This record gives sequence, structure tokens and C-alpha cells, in this order.
Amino acid sequence: MTQDELKQAVARAAADHVASSTPAGSIIGVGTGSTANFFIDELAKIKNRIAATVASSEATRKRLEGHGIKVLDLNEVSRMPVYVDGADEITARLEMVKGGGGALTREKIVAAVADKFICVCDQSKLVDTLGKFPLPIEVIPMASAYVARELEKLGGQPKLRDGFVTDNGNLIIDVQGLAIAKPAEFETTLNQIVGVVTNGLFARRGADLLLLATPDGVRTLTN
Ligand code: 5RP
Repeated sequence: MTQDELKQAVARAAADHVASSTPAGSIIGVGTGSTANFFIDELAKIKNRIAATVASSEATRKRLEGHGIKVLDLNEVSRMPVYVDGADEITARLEMVKGGGGALTREKIVAAVADKFICVCDQSKLVDTLGKFPLPIEVIPMASAYVARELEKLGGQPKLRDGFVTDNGNLIIDVQGLAIAKPAEFETTLNQIVGVVTNGLFARRGADLLLLATPDGVRTLTN
């Protein structure tokens, strides 16, 4: 199976899960990236069953609206049973690195509101230790050099993402060289650096369910 076929299979499994586990008329949180895009295409097939969605990026909003799926502002929503998104890395404890697509801040906010986070990945994303994938950090532009120096003190090699501006008008620093033994603690440490908007560790609020595509079928992992 190609990687796209694996992504498509896991996206279909996630849409089936949404259809069978959420009440009709629910509002669904939708992530960002190539796997999330496959999920959006599957969600379109059951769009009459859901009331609306909340998008974690402008790209996702456009794709949802392109399918005729209603997208709400998060401030209009008080209850969301489920959020579906991909990850750049995930452990068996369902801690993740996210933000390869630069949408980490909105992803973390939408995930915070959802009752349940379903992560959809192909098997290449499952790791023992987070950090091989450069950790994305969204920063306020005027703080980028300061934040980079602080990240070096923590043992990382920061690199400003070339020519990239987030949906929130900020910059992304990708940090290489980290082996993150304690993801929840490190997530908190990074949040203390002034100028950091959001870091790409999703450990304090990790996923609740991982749907993992393998050539032998979609595996389900829970915490
Ligand atoms: C975007 C993300 C994505 O979930 C992550 O980058 C995975 O993307 P893909 O499904 O394309 O591999 O965090 O900010």
C-alpha cells in the first residue's frame, strides 16, 4: 500500500468512528494536513449526519467549505464531542508532536474544547521517543531571536521556518536535536519562554484514541 492509501484507509475509519460514536447533529473539530484532508473528503460523504465543523486552519476551512460543509467560529461552540487530526509523531502513550503544517496553535485550541481527540496516522508516525521530527514552535515575530537562544539553552538546534507565516500572523521555529523523555514536563517548560505562543508537543492533552493505518488494516490504540 502507498502512504496515501494508508492515509485514506485511516481517514475512512475515522469517519466511520465519527458516524457510529457521535450523536446525529454533532459539531466535529477538524485538523490540518494531508491525513486530515483525506478525513475531510470522507466526512463529506456523511455531511448530512453532522450539524457543522470547526476548522483548525484556513486551509481546512476552505476544504470543508468546498465540500459544502458548514464551518463555525469556535467561539460559537460550547460542546464538541470529537476532534480528528493527524500528527508528525505519536507514542504508544498517545503523546504527539504536531505542527509540521504550521497549524499547531489553532489545533491545540480546538483540541482543548473537544471531548475526545482522535489521532489519524499511518504507521510511520509511531515512535518510541518524540523529537526526531523537528519540534515546531509558534513565536511572536519580535521574539524569534530571543526564543531561539532560549531553545539552544535547552539543548535544541532551532531553525526559523523559511518564508512561513502562520494563520495567526506569527513565525515558526523548528527545533532539531531533541530526544524528549518527558513530553508533558517539556511542554510546560517550553510554554514558560516569553514569546512562545504554542509549542508542538501535545502531551498534557494528548490523543484519546489513535487510529493507525498499517498494510494489515487500521489498528486502534487507546490510553
Ligand atoms: C499540521 C499538523 C499535522 O497534523 C501534521 O503535520 C501531520 O500532517 P500529515 O497528515 O500531512 O502528515 O500538525 O500542523
